[in-house]
Amino acid sequence: MKPIQVGLLGIGTVGSGTFNVLQRNQEEIRRRAGRGIEIAMVADLDTTRAKQVVGDAVQVVGDARAIIANPDIDVVVELIGGYGIAKALVLEAIAAGKHVVTANKALLAVHGSEIFKAAAEKGVIVAYEAAVAGGIPIIKALREGLTANQIQWVAGIINGTTNFILSEMRDKGLDFDVVLKEAQRLGYAEADPTFDIEGVDAAHKATLMSAIAFGIPVQFDKAYVEGITKLAGADIKYAEQLGYRIKLLGITKRTDKGIELRVHPSLVPSKRLIANVEGAMNAVVVNGDAVGTTLYYGKGAGSEPTASAVIADLVDIARLHGADLAHSVPPLAFQSSTLGAAGKELPVLPMAEVVTSYYLRIRVADEAGVLAKITTLLANAGISIDAVLQREADEVGGEGSTQTDLIILTHDTREGDMDKALAEIQGLPTVLAPITRIRKEELN
Ligand code: HSE
Repeated sequence: MKPIQVGLLGIGTVGSGTFNVLQRNQEEIRRRAGRGIEIAMVADLDTTRAKQVVGDAVQVVGDARAIIANPDIDVVVELIGGYGIAKALVLEAIAAGKHVVTANKALLAVHGSEIFKAAAEKGVIVAYEAAVAGGIPIIKALREGLTANQIQWVAGIINGTTNFILSEMRDKGLDFDVVLKEAQRLGYAEADPTFDIEGVDAAHKATLMSAIAFGIPVQFDKAYVEGITKLAGADIKYAEQLGYRIKLLGITKRTDKGIELRVHPSLVPSKRLIANVEGAMNAVVVNGDAVGTTLYYGKGAGSEPTASAVIADLVDIARLHGADLAHSVPPLAFQSSTLGAAGKELPVLPMAEVVTSYYLRIRVADEAGVLAKITTLLANAGISIDAVLQREADEVGGEGSTQTDLIILTHDTREGDMDKALAEIQGLPTVLAPITRIRKEELN
């Protein structure tokens, strides 16, 4: 059978990895796919650099639309990123009858419904294994491997940049700003790291996992997103003393009232495997009613790890090309006719309705009755305390200090109730600084 013809839009880190791995492993990939997979065209603004990567055997063009217009191209691999030109090109490729492989989580988390609908109407595949957790086949696991289950929850370290920063903060006892600069110097963080450190990248990925896990449309606009920029080294240290590590988790959970979809720093018990995922590595824990808890670990970014996911999608497409796609696995795992059915699907809950436990750090005047007032306000809101840790004033504010930190761990409570209690506690004259609140996930 004729090799399937692929056009790459963009040949940066992931594109060159895809080209190299396809070259190196072509024989095994052909045996698995049942036909060859050939990169026939590459589009990149920097055609000179593109030619250095792919040599003379591949046609290099500066205009991505030349690939879409070529009737010999079966699959377009979009590696441009972002919502702008990438969205236009993906929709044009679909309209031209091309299958699409993309690593673009931002595009799918925001415009996924429109893109998947266009693909279904045209009878082509949009595959996106590389969009979530790089080389870890988590989309395949959620879409296919766990298909027997009612998924209960998914929690993942799905942003390597922030996990690297948090690991360094813990290892070296440094604050966020210092580590971010070091991460940028080493190339672990981008010059503009906003999407990573503010949790947006993780929220894009969590949004996709949520849709696949629970059969709901992609709804990035309903995700709660909080990054790691406000985390202090002191919280990482106190969490450790209490038996926890702080990780930026993407969490999506089924509850009786609806679906939780949130990204924020979380205390995780140090004894959990996921708490020990360090550096730029990614990991995702999935809990299903039949299988129990499963863990997926690996590189969430990088040239060949991400290429591994892109090529897995190409192999799937090579096997299905020309077949009736009505019988293939739907892009979001559930049949599209069951997505977005008014009144049927579970709503994504506002953050005030989320139920979780909390770590609170409250800077107080070190005087009699302060702890009692705080615990009374928590009790009035129906919030039960799990543990309290009080630091020596000298340790917190230096010798002779009259201030100290109270650390309180709570049992599960509604976020809306916690918001109300914290507003009251913050108003006490003996509370001397903005309260730090970090959510806590036991993941058991
Ligand atoms: N910027 C992402 C990360 C990699 O740090 O994990 C691509 O999603």
